Amino acid sequence: MATKLNMLLKLLPLLVFLLIPVSSQPNQLFYAGFKGLGSNNMTLDGVAEIEPNGVLKLTNDSSKVMGHAFYPTPFRFKNSSGGKAFSFSSSFALAIVPEFPKLGGHGLAFTIAPSKDLKAHPSQYLGILDSSNIGNFSNHLFAVEFDTAKDFEFGDIDDNHVGIDINSLASNASASAGYYTGDDDSSKQNLTLQSRVPILAWVDYDAAKSVVHVTISASSTKPKRPLLSYHVDLSPILKESMYVGFSASTGLLASSHYILGWSFKINGPAPPLDLSSLPQLPGPKKKHTSLIIGVSVSVVVLALCAVLFGIYMYRRYKNADVIEAWELEIGPHRYSYQELKKATKGFKDKELLGQGGFGSVYKGTLPNSNTQVAVKRISHDSNQGLREFVSEIASIGRLRHRNLVQLLGWCRRLGDLLLVYDFMENGSLDKYLFNEPETILSWEQRFKVIKDVASALLYLHEGYEQVVIHRDVKASNVLLDGELNGRLGDFGLARLYEHGTNPSTTRVVGTLGYLAPEVPRTGKATPSSDVFAFGALLLEVACGLRPLEPKAMPEDMVLVDCVWNKFKQGRILNMVDPKLNGVFNEREMLMVLKLGLLCSNGSPTARPSMRQVVRFLEGEVGVPDELRKPGEGGYQEGFDEFLHSLESSSFDQMNTGSYGRNRDMDSSFPSLTGTSLFSPHGKGQTM
Ligand SMILES: *[C@@H]1O[C@H](CO)[C@@H](O)[C@H](O)[C@H]1NC(C)=O
Ligand SMILES: *[C@@H]1O[C@H](CO)[C@@H](O)[C@H](O)[C@H]1NC(C)=O
Ligand SMILES: *[C@@H]1O[C@H](CO)[C@@H](O)[C@H](O)[C@H]1NC(C)=O
Ligand SMILES: *[C@@H]1O[C@H](CO)[C@@H](O)[C@H](O)[C@H]1NC(C)=O
Ligand SMILES: *[C@@H]1O[C@H](CO)[C@@H](O)[C@H](O)[C@H]1NC(C)=O
Ligand SMILES: *[C@@H]1O[C@H](CO)[C@@H](O)[C@H](O)[C@H]1NC(C)=O
Repeated sequence: MATKLNMLLKLLPLLVFLLIPVSSQPNQLFYAGFKGLGSNNMTLDGVAEIEPNGVLKLTNDSSKVMGHAFYPTPFRFKNSSGGKAFSFSSSFALAIVPEFPKLGGHGLAFTIAPSKDLKAHPSQYLGILDSSNIGNFSNHLFAVEFDTAKDFEFGDIDDNHVGIDINSLASNASASAGYYTGDDDSSKQNLTLQSRVPILAWVDYDAAKSVVHVTISASSTKPKRPLLSYHVDLSPILKESMYVGFSASTGLLASSHYILGWSFKINGPAPPLDLSSLPQLPGPKKKHTSLIIGVSVSVVVLALCAVLFGIYMYRRYKNADVIEAWELEIGPHRYSYQELKKATKGFKDKELLGQGGFGSVYKGTLPNSNTQVAVKRISHDSNQGLREFVSEIASIGRLRHRNLVQLLGWCRRLGDLLLVYDFMENGSLDKYLFNEPETILSWEQRFKVIKDVASALLYLHEGYEQVVIHRDVKASNVLLDGELNGRLGDFGLARLYEHGTNPSTTRVVGTLGYLAPEVPRTGKATPSSDVFAFGALLLEVACGLRPLEPKAMPEDMVLVDCVWNKFKQGRILNMVDPKLNGVFNEREMLMVLKLGLLCSNGSPTARPSMRQVVRFLEGEVGVPDELRKPGEGGYQEGFDEFLHSLESSSFDQMNTGSYGRNRDMDSSFPSLTGTSLFSPHGKGQTM
């Protein structure tokens, strides 16, 4: 008896201890911002952090990361394991800022899970699940996704939707982001999730009616009609104790995902949040360089206005460095000729990085900042017109992406045209691939460069206010910086098109072997012809061979045909660059080779878009095993037509001129463009 009592007394503290968490279990929370909250209030993991101003940042712009933020203690959602789940309600303000306008990923999710430690992956898994547990009933996961990427795998409806997810990322119900101002369908107003605009969301589960409502709005007033209503009894999904919080993830494309405020309540409406009293997002990233450029341009403009008269007078004596009105409208910094002359030590041959038909690329060091630059000098007798030059500066100067070679500024002096670029220490990609290279890039490095170029092209096609077509994607236009990041160079040919308007049909540019067959036929370069060239690049990087190998036997001359033949025979890996010594990731290699074939399709409509290409490279979607022969859809015909058109010189003077001068089968196939000037005859940078 005494021992029993003793035991009970011993157990008492334990019983009390066991009871405490239950009785102290919260049933609501209210965070109007997260300022000053510590680990007692929120449990963060991954890259999630609370910013000093009280904004909860789930992810930043880093690729393939995830961030989680959960309330530290679980909420009680049921009385007993077999019981009925309680009603609950949550309200939160979110904001998504894509890394580049319109290009972000992947999304965030309001999450109710049995554990704060989720077995999860980033990218399309939103940091809440992974490929092994998708759809498993034992996940006991309820989530509302705010998804900014259209994943084929999960049947997403678009790249801007809200979905209710149970145990899976294939949503049980989803709708394009928006809200209803009235009762009928026609009153729907669209909202763009990744627009940095704060969006208020409500998730309400009514246990009596077994229905989940999701409502979003750009204002603090809750619209009457929910965006989504899904009839489901959550009792089998929710356990007695569940953690509540948020998850977000990024893929190759990244967004910063923010939560600005959050309230939650069991068995009652969540305390309302007022958008105006929540912390604000940090201001748009200030681009230091553009600020400098902006300032220097305005300084230049002011100074120039003042001295314009003086210059005019001076012009009578010496016709040099005259600045014309249009030159002042050009974005990037205008360097003085003297500055660049000094930087390149008077354009000395010793500083020469590369040379071609139109001019030369010099290495330079800017006198004031000690910055290393590459100066592209287009010489007086070149046929490349001033207009092309001007369009090049105006367009590239405003493009900014970590995988583009940045144009820093320019200068014009009489017929001398000079472009100043970031210096790329490791030169161009082709010198690592062909003709017994001194340094061999590993597969890992090559795969990284491929992804870099893909992300730059996607930016050009979709991430900028206008569609920019590169027109001359090839290994010698891919430069490697100090860390061997791939950077796409040479936008001399890029023309800007307004979205939706037809590209002009004036001139055929590009390089043999990379030129899509429809281009000579139609005279039109399109995003899809860039994809074709990218396909050729994929194959040359994987095989270490040029798209056209002039010295090879006729049947081995066209790389894409060789790869296709081996693919048909089921021996595609025979094409892998022997210089890799068999060291490569087979899954990635197969994907790149197949993707190369897919992009090389003769029919533009059969090629994927750069957005899809990025998805493939990220491994989010598998490249189909069934491929159409690249020649189908007119590859061969187009090619013959193209060769024919070369002979009949349907290209304009400038390009045929360049062709003639570059007919050097030993070095590379002819570029039909002014860009050939930076084909790597020299030792380093081309652009
Ligand atoms: C954060 O946690 C501390 C300690 O548990 C608590 O005193 C405080 O009230 C919490 N803050 C909010 C806003 O809930
Ligand atoms: C994102 O956050 C992680 C961890 O805080 C950090 O290491 C990384 O540099 C950040 N990335 C960017 C692009 O700011
Ligand atoms: C849960 O238990 C409490 C008392 O412990 C009771 O008041 C409540 O009605 C129960 N709820 C449900 C849904 O059974
Ligand atoms: C679901 O997950 C459980 C526990 O992780 C595991 O034992 C089970 O095999 C999984 N079921 C399926 C169909 O994958
Ligand atoms: C929807 O929810 C139920 C659970 O109620 C689940 O079993 C089902 O597979 C879910 N998915 C879809 C796409 O309907
Ligand atoms: C709203 O979005 C839907 C689907 O994305 C689209 O079909 C519709 O045209 C858009 N409406 C407006 C007014 O932009």
